[in-house]
Amino acid sequence: MKNVFVVGAGPAGMFAARKVALAGYDTFLFNRDIKPGGLAEYGIYPLKDKMKFGLRKQFAQVLNLPNVHYFGNVKVGNGYDLTIADLEAMRPAAILFTSGAQGAHNLGLPGETAKGVYAAKDFVYHYNQLPPYASQDFSTGRRVAIIGIGNVAIDIARWLLQDSPSRATEEVVIIARRGPLEIKFDKKEIGYVARHIEHDALAAELDRIKDRCTSCNQDVSPQSVFASHFPMLNEEDFTSISPRLSFRFLSSPTAVLAGTDGRIEKLEVAENDLVLSTDGSTKAVRTDQKTLLDIDTLIFAIGDKHDEQLGLPMGPDGYATLADPEHPNNPHFEVWDPTNTCPLPGHFVAGWARRASTGLVGIARHDGELGAVKTIEYVQNLPDTNTLTEPEILAFLRKKGLHPVTKSDLALLGTIEQQQAALRKLNYFKYSDNESMFRAIAEAKAQTAQSGEETRLQPIS
Ligand SMILES: Cc1cc2nc3c(=O)[nH]c(=O)nc-3n(C[C@H](O)[C@H](O)[C@H](O)COP(=O)(O)OP(=O)(O)OC[C@H]3O[C@@H](n4cnc5c(N)ncnc54)[C@H](O)[C@@H]3O)c2cc1C
Ligand SMILES: NC(=O)c1ccc[n+]([C@@H]2O[C@H](COP(=O)([O-])OP(=O)(O)OC[C@H]3O[C@@H](n4cnc5c(N)ncnc54)[C@H](OP(=O)(O)O)[C@@H]3O)[C@@H](O)[C@H]2O)c1
Repeated sequence: MKNVFVVGAGPAGMFAARKVALAGYDTFLFNRDIKPGGLAEYGIYPLKDKMKFGLRKQFAQVLNLPNVHYFGNVKVGNGYDLTIADLEAMRPAAILFTSGAQGAHNLGLPGETAKGVYAAKDFVYHYNQLPPYASQDFSTGRRVAIIGIGNVAIDIARWLLQDSPSRATEEVVIIARRGPLEIKFDKKEIGYVARHIEHDALAAELDRIKDRCTSCNQDVSPQSVFASHFPMLNEEDFTSISPRLSFRFLSSPTAVLAGTDGRIEKLEVAENDLVLSTDGSTKAVRTDQKTLLDIDTLIFAIGDKHDEQLGLPMGPDGYATLADPEHPNNPHFEVWDPTNTCPLPGHFVAGWARRASTGLVGIARHDGELGAVKTIEYVQNLPDTNTLTEPEILAFLRKKGLHPVTKSDLALLGTIEQQQAALRKLNYFKYSDNESMFRAIAEAKAQTAQSGEETRLQPIS
């Protein structure tokens, strides 16, 4: 038997598993979370129903393939549930790592461990109900600063301005180290929150920084910037509503100051100059000019990095991979050990684990599928590795004291969650702690035993 292991069941892992399984290999998914989906389930904005339902349906179809096997609630890495060496001991023909970007970028600011300072990913996991983040304290106050000006920053602003049950927010200020022409968010995403922006306040901010941008030959007049990034503000009948969304460009945080209760009270930011590089890109260069802002919540939305504890060699953008010398610009998927300057045969990486915080679901899917192709090419040329069977793997995991969640458990959980949704008259219901999910699985097992029915994963329509 030559079976393939896939670590992580986000979009990259799920679509990779599909490809490997359709090539005829038994595929075993090991996933940190009980449920599959990764950021598609626990990152994408909660109100993007159509997209989330569509993806859940596709993931259910992958899991319904008879040669795809699933072990949820199993975290791989040094000091976690299973090490890579434990996986290797089960003799897979290859392992494809698609565990995403779970490490946080730390700016190392004085005071950044104050209460009320969060990493965007953790905050997003919290409002998307991922255990254990769902039950942890992510309280927000009246004045929230978000560092970074990409789509994640806009999602978080949207949550705080419109959908957070706490309704505490009076103002969200997005702080960007560079200028308005280096904005990373999409027009569609800003469209959800643009009505919280005050036309004149944004125009005044553009005026405040215009000389520094002009030195890089940039036109940051309101007319130009509104047209390129905030089209709604040019509409004749545009009126803004509270809570407010404001922007501070050419600014970098330099220190967090906490109050006597240990919670952030002020944020010190430095003004930046904008410098043009020879390749035409711009760089923020910090000046000595500093300002103190009244801020009671700070969220870093500056992208994530790969988790060092997984145990693979780290590269600059994701786990280290081996470049093809003949095609250096092609994506490469085989893990490379830079210390011993050799590849790690049979170890592949794809999705956000390969290039952290890069691109939409479709890109992660494509990357997973390319990684799967490379994995299949490798496995095809191998002799039998005699991988453990599903019952043997389950026994191995249980012997280690783990509680893996299988495909049939997921189907049972889905049944109970559908019942709960119907009871609560909701489109969709999901549990936000592992204990409730395990209780629901046990309850469904009891129901199934009574009725004698077999439960299969139901694609969600
Ligand atoms: C806040 C936010 C909102 C987004 N909104 C959109 C959107 O609206 N539209 C869009 O197209 N894209 C969106 N994206 C991008 C999209 O979510 C990603 O492109 C995609 O999810 C990346 O897929 P992945 O499989 O590489 O990683 P992930 O989705 O992160 O999946 C990683 C998987 O690995 C598992 N895992 C992690 N560590 C381990 C471990 N140690 N052992 C075992 N398993 C592990 C996790 O449980 C998870 O299931 C958003 C991203 C973010 C952060
Ligand atoms: N709704 C959606 O479709 C959606 C939602 C969320 C995420 N996504 C996708 O997920 C991916 C990740 O999104 P993201 O918003 O995390 O990343 P992103 O688009 O790369 O934006 C990151 C932001 O953080 C800033 N930044 C990085 N390092 C910094 C530092 N050290 N100090 C200050 N600022 C810093 C960047 O500024 P510089 O430009 O100066 O580096 C940039 O403004 C993107 O592909 C995004 O499109 C999509």
